[in-house]
Amino acid sequence: MAIFKKHESKIIDPVCGMTFEEKDTVVTSSYKGTTYYFCSEKCKADFDRNPESILTMKAEREKIMEEERSETLGKMMNEVAHEIRNPLTSIGGFTRKIYDKLPEGDPNKNYMKMVIEEVARLENIVKQLVELTTIGVLHRESSNINDVIIETIKSFEQELKNNNIEVKTELIDNPPVVSIDKDKMTIAIVNLIKNAIEAMHKTPKLLKITSYIGNGHIEVIMSDTGKGIPKDKIKYIFDPFFTSKIYGPGLGLTFTQRIIQVHGGTISVESDLGKGTTFTIRLPLKELVL
Ligand SMILES: Nc1ncnc2c1ncn2[C@@H]1O[C@H](COP(=O)(O)OP(=O)(O)OP(=O)(O)O)[C@@H](O)[C@H]1O
Ligand SMILES: [Mg+2]
Repeated sequence: MAIFKKHESKIIDPVCGMTFEEKDTVVTSSYKGTTYYFCSEKCKADFDRNPESILTMKAEREKIMEEERSETLGKMMNEVAHEIRNPLTSIGGFTRKIYDKLPEGDPNKNYMKMVIEEVARLENIVKQLVELTTIGVLHRESSNINDVIIETIKSFEQELKNNNIEVKTELIDNPPVVSIDKDKMTIAIVNLIKNAIEAMHKTPKLLKITSYIGNGHIEVIMSDTGKGIPKDKIKYIFDPFFTSKIYGPGLGLTFTQRIIQVHGGTISVESDLGKGTTFTIRLPLKELVL
């Protein structure tokens, strides 16, 4: 497995961060079953000397880049939302007035109804975009991550049953008390469970949620046996409005990622097309423990 392949043929050197084509790889190195690609012998030597510290630095570098990227996207979305909100309110308001004045049976009444419904859908998207920008304001409370997971699964009990989805949990034995925004963390997990349900159409249908503590982090791993995500799409899934649904809107994972980021954590994804998808949330304990 080569996790540093970005696009089909793009490679990122984990030492210097340089991006290059696979064919331009100078040398490779294997560490814990993963192949790493380097642009020079010097980078490989640096890596081989201390792979763990290089990988930690690389994870930090990626975290900062991802945070900057979603902050820029967030600002853009906020501006777009504010530009759209007022005209949308006028369109909705005037259309409703015309609708109310049209006599029953008027053929235009149906068109007006369609406009009203579409405006309501757009207003809902704008509302979500504005919410996205206020997500950084956390209302922290003492909680433990297992309770959030268990309560969220409970809220999906009926839906999971209706869809014949089996749920397995393997949770931390003595979870530490952490200071998190429970409501927001719940939204983050809700969005992941919703996506997993939407992705599982064929048996086996298994949703597995694991939590554990390792290396100064709480990790929550959620895997499903759904349709998976194509390789060329996976890098877009956290972007606002990226969706494979007809009426997306494609904001679920954007919310989830922002919520995890404002708690100081990261979320990553691995997927096997036709077999399933795994999301890993990593929350740094030092920022959460009271
Ligand atoms: N567990 C999963 N399995 C397969 N594909 C997934 C999974 N999670 C996300 N995706 C893909 O990522 C896309 C984006 O997900 P996201 O939750 O952001 O938006 P959405 O589910 O399309 O719409 P919304 O959540 O706003 O209702 C999905 O449309 C789907 O293509
Ligand atoms: Mg979703």
